[in-house]
Amino acid sequence: MDKQELDKVILSLTEGNVVAIPTETVYGLAASIQSEAALKKIFSVKNRPFFDPLIVHVSGIEMAKSVVSSWPSIANYLAEQFWPGPFTMVLPKSNTLNPLITSGLDSVAVRAPAHPITLEIIKTLNIPLAAPSANQFGKTSPTSADHVKNSFPERDFLVLDGGPSLIGIESTVVSIDEKNKLIKLLRPGTLSFSLLQEKVFKFDSEYKIEKSQKGASPGLLENHYQPEIPLVIVDKEDFSNKDEEHIQKIFQLDHLSKGVELTLSKSANLAARELYSELRSLSNTKVSYIFFKYKEYMKEESWDGIRDRLKKASSLIIDS
Ligand code: TXA
Ligand code: MG
Repeated sequence: MDKQELDKVILSLTEGNVVAIPTETVYGLAASIQSEAALKKIFSVKNRPFFDPLIVHVSGIEMAKSVVSSWPSIANYLAEQFWPGPFTMVLPKSNTLNPLITSGLDSVAVRAPAHPITLEIIKTLNIPLAAPSANQFGKTSPTSADHVKNSFPERDFLVLDGGPSLIGIESTVVSIDEKNKLIKLLRPGTLSFSLLQEKVFKFDSEYKIEKSQKGASPGLLENHYQPEIPLVIVDKEDFSNKDEEHIQKIFQLDHLSKGVELTLSKSANLAARELYSELRSLSNTKVSYIFFKYKEYMKEESWDGIRDRLKKASSLIIDS
C-alpha cells in the first residue's frame, strides 16, 4: 500500500469511520477500538445485533496484552505458534475496553491477522481494530473487495483491496480458562482441533481441551453465512426426483424449478477458499436453490470448518 493510501485509511479510522480491510480469512469491517462512533457504525452498517461481540485485531503479542486483563503463558505460547494467522483467543478483557466490543461480556476475542496491508495499518495506527466479517449480518462472508462492495452498494466507507482471502473461512476461535486449565473450541476453522491439542499438550499436559457445546459463543447462531437463495445439503447416496419435489414443496417453488449444484475442490484448503465465493456466484444465477452433496471424505477433520459453515448456511438438510 502506498503512503498516500495508508494516510487516508488512518485518517478515516481516527475520524470515527469504518474501513473494510482484507485479512487472510475473510474481509473485515474495521473500527478503531478507541472510536465509539466507529464501533457503533459497525453494528448499524451490518445490521448486527449488539449481543454479538467483535474480534479485536492486533499486530502481535505486545498489543494483545493491552486489551486483556491477564495474559496466560499458554496464550503466549499459542500466539507464538499461530500468529499472525487464522487463530482467535478469548481471554479476560481489560476494563478499559469499550463494552460495545465485548457485548458486555468480561472476555475479549483477539487475533493477529496474517495480511501485510492490515498488519501495516494496525502498526501505523498503533491502536487495535475491532472487526467482524464485512457482510450483512447472517449473510455470506466476503473473501474479496468486490464481495464487500456488492454487499454494501450504498456504502460511505473505504474498501481496501488486498486480493482474494487465501484461507477463505473465518478463524478458529478458542476460549482460554487458565485457572481451570481448560481450552474450548468455540468455532472451528482451518487450524485443526488436533493440531491445537498437540500444541497445548506439548506446552502443558495438564490442560484439557474440548469442543464446545452449542451456544458457548454468543454470535454462533444456528443460521449464518446464508446465500441469497436457499442452500440444501444432501447427505445421502441417491438424490432422486422425489427429493427434488420435496425441495420444491418446502420452498414453495413450481415443479419446473431447478437447483444448481455447489461443487468444491477435493482439497479442504482449496475448498475453504472457494466456498463463499461459489455461494455468492451461484446465488446470482437464475436458479431457485443451490444443493450440495456431502462426500465421505468430507468427514475428515480438515473439513470441520467447512462443514460447520455449510450447515449454518443451509436452509434444509436431506438425509436418508
Ligand atoms: O477470521 C475471522 O475471525 C474474521 C476476520 C475479519 O478476522 N472475523 C470474524 O468476526 O469472523 P465475526 O464477528 O464474524 O465472528 C466473531 C466470532 C463470533 O462468533 C463471536 O460470537 C465470537 O467471535 N466472539 C467474539 N468475542 C467473543 C467473546 N468475548 N466470547 C465468546 N465469543 C466471542
Ligand atoms: Mg461473521
